[in-house]
Amino acid sequence: VHLSVQGSQDLAGQIYRQLRAAMVEGRLAAGERLPSTRALAVQLGVSRKTTLEAFDRLTAEGYLGARQGDGSFVNEGLHRLTEAVPPSMVTRLTATPVWERVPEALSMPVPTPTLPIDFRGGSTDRGAFPFDAWRRCMLHALRATARGFSGYRDPAGEQELRLAISRYLAVSRAVTRQWREVIVTQGAQQALDLIARVMIRPGDVVAMEDPGYPPARACFAAAGARVVDVPVDGEGLVVERLPAQARLVYVTPSHQFPLGMPMSLSRRVALLQWAQRHAALIVEDDYDGEYRFEGRPLDALKSLDQADTVAYVGTFSKTIFPELRLGYMVPPGALHQALCKARQTVDWHSCMMTQTALAKFMLDGDFARHQRRMHKLYGKRRELLLARLRGPLSPWLEPLESVAGIHLAAYIKQPIGETELIDAAARAGIGLYGLAPFHNRAGARPGLLFGYGATDLEHVERGLTGLERLLPTLGRNRLG
Ligand SMILES: Cc1ncc(COP(=O)(O)O)c(C=O)c1O
Repeated sequence: VHLSVQGSQDLAGQIYRQLRAAMVEGRLAAGERLPSTRALAVQLGVSRKTTLEAFDRLTAEGYLGARQGDGSFVNEGLHRLTEAVPPSMVTRLTATPVWERVPEALSMPVPTPTLPIDFRGGSTDRGAFPFDAWRRCMLHALRATARGFSGYRDPAGEQELRLAISRYLAVSRAVTRQWREVIVTQGAQQALDLIARVMIRPGDVVAMEDPGYPPARACFAAAGARVVDVPVDGEGLVVERLPAQARLVYVTPSHQFPLGMPMSLSRRVALLQWAQRHAALIVEDDYDGEYRFEGRPLDALKSLDQADTVAYVGTFSKTIFPELRLGYMVPPGALHQALCKARQTVDWHSCMMTQTALAKFMLDGDFARHQRRMHKLYGKRRELLLARLRGPLSPWLEPLESVAGIHLAAYIKQPIGETELIDAAARAGIGLYGLAPFHNRAGARPGLLFGYGATDLEHVERGLTGLERLLPTLGRNRLG
């Protein structure tokens, strides 16, 4: 076995790792005798202390055994490691069949390298985030952590954060004033996962909007549910098309994902009644409902929920940024305890420091200030997008009605395919995203999803001007 050492750092560690690898891979066979520590030290040009240290560690971990006065030997027990593994053993390790049905890529494909102008959804404006205020809140959280006892915390989340969220939800979404009803999660995604864990038995029917949010679909499918697609129209989910056996209905009533229309009041009432009649749970994903731009918006569906059949789910992914991984839910009272137990079995709770920092950020008013600022910034981008979609781009694109959120959907009016347009735009340096990945059934109308969270006004303008130039050439090419 060839050994070598490099530099002067951690020489014993280098020898230890090379010998260990040689034994595990079978290059040093069980029972084989190793050179003496003295001989090895001379051979490698290191001190005897170094080789002794490496051998001592290998002996302590059971790789080497010693025979009195006869040096060190590779432990006999190791020969089993290097026996050929029968192929049946390798193939026996498979995930449960449910995972074959879960789609591989849960988010939109992102072009590489990133394009100069990018209308990707799901991102927020990092440059506009008040990092100085956030730093102050993180320092406060560090100090609080240093002072407190070490130990596991409440799976439902830090009390201050639950309090801050309940106040925010009461004012902003008319949802709850009771902090005890709030459960903090690692983003909306974990809320959906916990709900699936406590609600779904394999084979249960879950109804989802189509088009809809693929990560939610994956979550329910992973729990063993039979996910049934329900169409949406201009008023949101078509309630009459719900399958009678559905145990859970997942909806995005404030801003249908990805099309954008709000669910009408009559549909909301019909959905609540349907859920009560069928003893089903409604999961309301209010992922970006706080950014409302037109008219008097409807409060959350949960605010109409007299019978406690709605699990309200929200996130900081759009109001702060997705990497924070913090969200929340207000479930029906009957599920609260099971959800907290489920959370404890998964990962016990979210990081206490981040929760404490976010609570301070909210209670000090920084969050509200940030939101007001972003509302203005996003509002301007949205106005520009709508004006251009309804104006110069109107022969090709038709924006869908939407009153909230940080993305807009538009149908393609001409006979131009989504992929054709996306590819041509990418060649012109503009990142566009299609609606097809969100449709589960074939034959959907081609369209685009314009995210403007991370695209500033100048880039929105340049991107749209580029499209105004590009689209006529595509149209002409096709007609020609
Ligand atoms: C429909 C929908 N729900 C939830 C989320 C956010 O999920 P999370 O809080 O896990 O980041 C998004 C983000 O794009 C979304 O589009």
